[in-house]
Amino acid sequence: MVNASESKESRTAPPKYHEPVQGTVFHGDGREEALLKHLNSLPELSDAETSNLSLQDKSQRVLNAIHEFGKGENRYLMSVGDTKGRQVEALVKEKKPKLVLELGTYVGYSGISFARHLLELHPNSIYPENWSSDANEDRAGYISLEKSEVYATTARGGFKLAGLDKVIKVVTGSSSPNLRNLRKTLNMPKPLKFDMVFLDHLKPLYTIDIKVLEEEGLVGPGTVLIADNVVKPGNPAYLSWVRATPEQKRKSLQAPRLTSQPPTTPNPPVEEWETAFHDGPIDETRWAPEEAEGTTAEGDPGLIYSSQMLDGWDPYTGEKDACEVSVCTGRED
Ligand SMILES: C[S@@+](CC[C@H](N)C(=O)[O-])C[C@H]1O[C@@H](n2cnc3c(N)ncnc32)[C@H](O)[C@@H]1O
Repeated sequence: MVNASESKESRTAPPKYHEPVQGTVFHGDGREEALLKHLNSLPELSDAETSNLSLQDKSQRVLNAIHEFGKGENRYLMSVGDTKGRQVEALVKEKKPKLVLELGTYVGYSGISFARHLLELHPNSIYPENWSSDANEDRAGYISLEKSEVYATTARGGFKLAGLDKVIKVVTGSSSPNLRNLRKTLNMPKPLKFDMVFLDHLKPLYTIDIKVLEEEGLVGPGTVLIADNVVKPGNPAYLSWVRATPEQKRKSLQAPRLTSQPPTTPNPPVEEWETAFHDGPIDETRWAPEEAEGTTAEGDPGLIYSSQMLDGWDPYTGEKDACEVSVCTGRED
């Protein structure tokens, strides 16, 4: 289903620049503001130096600069990185999505990596800054949701340097309530929906947020979901939802909603990752964390996904990780 998984890049661990960051401060201590200052100070990213470069080369310079910054002491950045990122880029080129949604912008590394292909794939489409209310117009664009205004500001700065500010629209706020209103916010009348969704924000929110997107018809047959960090730290509940059959999902919805967090199912041994969760902890998806801010959702259990993992690595700690790619192949009523 997904050719990108055959990439050789994923077979070689990148060098280790940082110890695993869980349990330590690894963001929000000023490093994101410092990154923006740093990017704006680099001569090789200035207009004078990049005006003759192709979009790919210009954006690659920004990605390289972000990655280099993240190698410094107390500068770890929770970006998708290049081993997973390049495979997602290959998927973007293969699937040719027009409308892409990202949950979790952070400093914009993934946004730059993926959105830079949209303009080449769809040069004549209309991008978010010029969308009108006409549902029939040929729209393309990369919508990225970010809770932190500070991180969004850094990301917008990077998008501008990369030449992608007209392609990417950052929406700030908490994902779950914002997704409920996203059609209105973006003026996306039905039947418009996203062709691709990259989930990379707070891990316990993946399940509730995908259910909201399903209910709102913002994902559906043809949509490709890509969820980062399904090995590190792992996300058994989300995997069980996208790997379950409609029958399993319908059955899970007969159980009452959980009002407190259930014990989290531990990650399985590495050799079982591909096969685990097909009959997994789906009951955990009956719980929505506090960060969902009161949003509840049952999803659309009739949607059928074909789901598999793309292996890769954390870009700085050398820990094994993966993205789950779930193609929505249809709907069973
Ligand atoms: C792992 S980082 C995203 C990395 C980025 N996608 C990349 O690869 O460059 C997770 C981001 O999700 C954001 N986030 C956390 N909870 C959120 C929520 N409820 N809604 C939107 N964004 C959230 C965090 O502020 C953080 O910037």
